[in-house]
Amino acid sequence: MTKRIAVFASGNGSNFQVIAEQFPVAFVFSDHRDAYVLERAKSLGVPSYAFELKEFDNKAAYEAAIVDLLEEHEIDLVVLAGYMKIVASTLLAKYEGRMINIHPAYLPEFPGAHGIEDAWAAGVAESGVTIHWVDSGVDSGQIIRQERVPRLEGDTIDSFEERIHAMEYRLYPEVLESLGVKRHQE
Ligand code: GRF
Repeated sequence: MTKRIAVFASGNGSNFQVIAEQFPVAFVFSDHRDAYVLERAKSLGVPSYAFELKEFDNKAAYEAAIVDLLEEHEIDLVVLAGYMKIVASTLLAKYEGRMINIHPAYLPEFPGAHGIEDAWAAGVAESGVTIHWVDSGVDSGQIIRQERVPRLEGDTIDSFEERIHAMEYRLYPEVLESLGVKRHQE
């Protein structure tokens, strides 16, 4: 049996799109009702849900609503792809060990919300991409896979960023497959 996945994204959703083109996605969740990822889901025919933390009394109630969705859809693996919230105890209690994240830097270098910009500003010769299990820290869970991405002569932050995203689009599908998620049937 293939693992059933849900993808969480807060904004653009390009990683979600790459994943959904290659693997069945049970649903996408966004914590922003106007996120572009929801348009992508519609075009790809992937069910989507969106609600915002501010619509709930507290984070525990917000995460309890997410857990309900995950349980309703019998999700085996939660795939964070540009989900910009820290995962808190309600969600972790149920899904730690079944939740992965992609980070656009070579962890533990440059954790946090600005991995690409921070690496660029530090003037490093190379950065990278990391996929890791989610724990209660920020980008601190056990690493599943990481690859280096060089900063090339003549790079601008845009070309550097593009090269990092290209690595993300290559690595996430490989990792999903290695974790037992089956691709779309031909
Ligand atoms: C990616 O760079 C991912 O590593 C980071 O947020 C970005 C999301 O991009 N966590 P997108 O929404 O998949 O286009």
